[in-house]
Amino acid sequence: MSFGLVVLVSGTGTLLQALIDASAADPEVQILAVVSDRPGVSALDRAEAVQIPTVVHPYRRGDDRARWDAELTAAVADFAPDLVVSAGFMKLVGPAFLGRFGGRMINTHPALLPAFPGMHGPRDALAHGVKITGATVFMVDDGVDTGQILAQAAVEVYDGDTVESLHQRIKVVERDLLLASVRRLASRAGTADPNQPSFSSTTMNPRGANH
Ligand code: GRF
Repeated sequence: MSFGLVVLVSGTGTLLQALIDASAADPEVQILAVVSDRPGVSALDRAEAVQIPTVVHPYRRGDDRARWDAELTAAVADFAPDLVVSAGFMKLVGPAFLGRFGGRMINTHPALLPAFPGMHGPRDALAHGVKITGATVFMVDDGVDTGQILAQAAVEVYDGDTVESLHQRIKVVERDLLLASVRRLASRAGTADPNQPSFSSTTMNPRGANH
């Protein structure tokens, strides 16, 4: 039986592409739909190129946030996913969404949480002068990047790194970390305790991305 994902995106979609490529190679994992809060982003093109259904659900300034959240919940629920993956989705989901998908929604963050949460993980790590940063996959809760950590991988900060160069190197390990996390959750689905979809933290070797 396949493990169905709905992937939430907002931008370029390189994390989504990694999921698309992995699901093409592994029939156990299926991307049921891609949902974006922004029209016209290349993540949507990546989904459409392989005939994955897409939904665009924008939030416009002044919109009723609770209503937006309820509509997002309904749009995702239509696809009955086993897991919701936030892959570069730049909005926080609200109570309705978490009521429906809490414990079944993961996110990735380009820093080693709890350090440098929020929108600018690579920039903030660089500004702070840390020598090691990385990527984190975590279970989404109602805080900003506060949920249970599922897996982390370290990335070295180089002298002369820019926000862009550092973020690009983080994204390489972030992709592997996300794929490993999804595979692990898929393999645990349907096993002994359905209330325990999560797993203990994993350290992945970042060398491949750094050297
Ligand atoms: C990732 O680093 C993600 O953690 C951050 O934005 C990036 C998404 O990149 N929030 P992409 O759109 O998948 O290329």
